[in-house]
Amino acid sequence: MGLCCLWILYNFVASTCLCRRRPWYWWYCFLVGYVVARMEGVGVERHGYILSLGVLPTHRKLGVARKLMTAVQNAMVQEYGFVYVSLHVRISNHAAVNLYTKILGYEDYGTTIRFYDDGEDAL
Ligand SMILES: CC(C)(COP(=O)(O)OP(=O)(O)OC[C@H]1O[C@@H](n2cnc3c(N)ncnc32)[C@H](O)[C@@H]1OP(=O)(O)O)[C@@H](O)C(=O)NCCC(=O)NCCS
Repeated sequence: MGLCCLWILYNFVASTCLCRRRPWYWWYCFLVGYVVARMEGVGVERHGYILSLGVLPTHRKLGVARKLMTAVQNAMVQEYGFVYVSLHVRISNHAAVNLYTKILGYEDYGTTIRFYDDGEDAL
């Protein structure tokens, strides 16, 4: 039944260009990061949910994830007026936990025990 809720996918990608002199040549560009989010819930419970976020190892610590997250959050709030956006993150993923809590201001609403298939808990 959960999957029957109305949901819309939001995708943002970040790319970089190998050819500085011809940045409009799209075939020189490659993907360095992405974020996928969707709408969850119905009525007053409707909110945004971050499904996945990733940045190429060679392009980390450059602010790519911060920009992707800001873009997707703004899109969800401005277009659909969501009051909040939620997500789950592995308890051991310190980089992502830092990004969400210290930089983006997400609040910790407690641990979800064995949220992931391998048995790891989620925040
Ligand atoms: C987590 C991840 C998306 C961060 O991407 P990123 O582009 O490197 O992040 P940013 O450069 O925007 O960093 C923003 C903040 O995140 C935190 N952060 C990012 N990498 C970190 C690291 N290796 N260790 C600790 N904190 C880190 C910092 O607070 C950083 O702010 P600062 O630069 O002022 O210190 C990236 O490491 C990644 O793709 N990891 C693998 C996939 C993953 O874990 N996805 C999240 C699943 S929920």
